[in-house]
Amino acid sequence: MSTVQDLRRGAGDQPITMLTAYDAPTAAIVDQAGIDVILVGDSMGNAVLGYDTTLPVTVAEVESRTAAVSRATEDALVVADMPFLSVGVDMAQSVEHCGQMLKEADANAVKIESGPHTVELTERLTDLGIPVMAHLGLTPQHVNQLGGYARQGTTTEAAKRMLDLAEAHEDAGAFSVVLEHVPANVAEGISGALDIPTIGIGAGPHTDGQVLVLTDVFGLSENSPPFSKQFGDVRTEMESAVAAYREAVESGSFPAAEHSHVADDIEDVY
Ligand code: KIV
Ligand code: NA
Repeated sequence: MSTVQDLRRGAGDQPITMLTAYDAPTAAIVDQAGIDVILVGDSMGNAVLGYDTTLPVTVAEVESRTAAVSRATEDALVVADMPFLSVGVDMAQSVEHCGQMLKEADANAVKIESGPHTVELTERLTDLGIPVMAHLGLTPQHVNQLGGYARQGTTTEAAKRMLDLAEAHEDAGAFSVVLEHVPANVAEGISGALDIPTIGIGAGPHTDGQVLVLTDVFGLSENSPPFSKQFGDVRTEMESAVAAYREAVESGSFPAAEHSHVADDIEDVY
């Protein structure tokens, strides 16, 4: 069983591995492959719930998906991603929503898209025993503010602001920080300045770990960002399974005798 303290120490010489998962069967696959951390990302909005952005994802959706992932996971650290407006509206409600992920859904930690407004919350949660993974750089819940999903931290001032925020979250007790879509040299600088591990996505090779969205890795996503990489072609497998089923039913070859049962003692009442 991985803990946040294992992660703080780093996964040894090797980079930390993190992937998203949103359901029990895929979580079991990820866990049994030896991935260190499973993030039940609000990327579920785009990846599996059919939304165009992450903004409509609810606390109930993340809680339900996190519970399913936790039930199927033995070793990996399970991190629930706090959806848009589930934190930041007021302190008490934020703490309750985060606590719910540990209490009701058996998560080991929460991830929160970070900003100046999440420093105090991170400290409060850490004090209460709710480990926090911070998230800086591109924070997709700000898509309306940002006007898109552009790379962040591309000026000296912006990189400095990101470093200051990363350090503030480390000081507040965060056990790690995701850096999304930032220049590799900025991610390298921040990784060097922090004691807690950084986990990058679109942030180059110098972070302490890497994360990708599972449907991108599987080749199941309709759209994937330029920094992701497809490692398999699950879509083609799914398409051929469904096509084969349809063909078998339409042609009458399924179900065959071995898929059927005849009850001998039913009288002929038809
Ligand atoms: O929701 C998500 O999958 C994420 C990762 C991309 C870090 O936040
Ligand atoms: Na997310």
